[in-house]
Amino acid sequence: MNKGFSEDFLWGGALSACQAEGAYNEDEKTLTIPEVMKFNPKNDRKVTKQIQINMEMIKEAKNDPDTIKYPKRRGIDFYHTYKEDLALFAEMGFKVFRYSIAWARVFPNGNDKKPNEKALEFYDNVIDECLKYNMKPLITISHFDMPIVLIEKYGGWYNRELIDLYLRYCEVIFSRYRGKVNYWVTFNEINMSVKAGAKTLGILNEGQSNYEEMLFQGLHHQFVAAAKATKLAHKIDANNKIGSMVAYFTTYPYTCKPEDAMAMQNDDQMKNLFFLDILNKGNYPYYSKTYFERNNIELKIEAGDLEIIKEYTADFVGMSYYNSMISSNDGEQLELTAGNVHSVYKNPHLPSNEWGWQIDPVGLRYTLNHVYDRYNKPIFILENSSGFIDKLNDDFSVNDPYRIDFLKKHIEQMKLAIEDGVAVIGYTMWGPIDMISSSTSEMTKRYGFIYVDQDDYGNGSKKRYKKDSFYWYQNLIKTNGREL
Ligand code: BG6
Repeated sequence: MNKGFSEDFLWGGALSACQAEGAYNEDEKTLTIPEVMKFNPKNDRKVTKQIQINMEMIKEAKNDPDTIKYPKRRGIDFYHTYKEDLALFAEMGFKVFRYSIAWARVFPNGNDKKPNEKALEFYDNVIDECLKYNMKPLITISHFDMPIVLIEKYGGWYNRELIDLYLRYCEVIFSRYRGKVNYWVTFNEINMSVKAGAKTLGILNEGQSNYEEMLFQGLHHQFVAAAKATKLAHKIDANNKIGSMVAYFTTYPYTCKPEDAMAMQNDDQMKNLFFLDILNKGNYPYYSKTYFERNNIELKIEAGDLEIIKEYTADFVGMSYYNSMISSNDGEQLELTAGNVHSVYKNPHLPSNEWGWQIDPVGLRYTLNHVYDRYNKPIFILENSSGFIDKLNDDFSVNDPYRIDFLKKHIEQMKLAIEDGVAVIGYTMWGPIDMISSSTSEMTKRYGFIYVDQDDYGNGSKKRYKKDSFYWYQNLIKTNGREL
């Protein structure tokens, strides 16, 4: 029996460019979707409302240089503090650092003749700095930061031309970082598209007659792009490993009624497995064809698309795991609570964090077994954690036993899954340093081991302080998970 983490287990943390970098208009970078999303302090924390992004909002944002209203434009200034921040990750002993490259920096006009050298120099520096500390860089090629120009000029991923534009971008970064980066993720949480089409696909909902069909068409283009990117990455460097990624929406039947079990199966299929099946097995699954028929969805699939999807599947299954939900055939009377991207039915057996996200460590073990059984490929946990409210004490310490407790319980369950026989190769905890929240654009929702002195309105010194959990994670890595 496997008794724990392998010696080469990849412990680390994950950030995204659009929540950390700031410098939104420096060195020729152009705007992205998250930079036109306003901070809305009146948001009810326990309800997940997707902000509908439309062309009007984009126009308004383009004429407004404000970085208070639009917090992701300032991030935590990682563009200028990467050295200091990476040194802190190295001090914790990270073996891997997951970060994303901003497409809108590399190709500011979407179809530029040449990539932006200044942008690439920044990513050269980040990657070289990681290598200096023996941290393997793991790069997400697209993390929720659709360039606005690609929406204005092409209509986002609905347009098939995006496949070639994406591949040009991939070719630039695969070639430039050949021998330096060997772990790549094609699209962050590709399954978020169905609920957040603007953020992930750049397809705006402006009252089109069949918006859902447009989203699935955009997704088809992403599946083709992911397969072609996998082919290209292997051609450029045979050591490259390309991952698929979903946010796993683990779900349980509300009762043992067979109808609730059916509801659970349907949710699992169309919220999670559809994406992983295509990216890892290389086929549109039978249940998706039925779903398309029932929902009046007809995809334009060109000759050769299905073959390329079949031939170039992902090397590993990447997933984020934040919370679980329940499925019910008769959910009308059930209480709702917030979840990642959409509200979910509340599970009476689980506690929640301040934002209503349900805390379910055992669900992680369940999910890892479920996913491994289906794909039999190595699994990389690319995100896991929870948002908490932290207090910076007068002596600049932060006592965060709740974060340690959350992570400890999840890592324990990951270890049990490994003992069950699941091949988990790495764990990049989400948000080792506080960042702007993806869903709410606030700073108050903190994930980090490192506190950033900045409030929701950008006030503060932006200085970094180590929380208690910093030392806890450092020791965990040092003992390779033996001391939790
Ligand atoms: C994941 C995203 O879905 O959830 C991250 O990949 C995000 O970008 C994380 O930050 C946590 O969500 P939030 O809304 O609490 O920042």
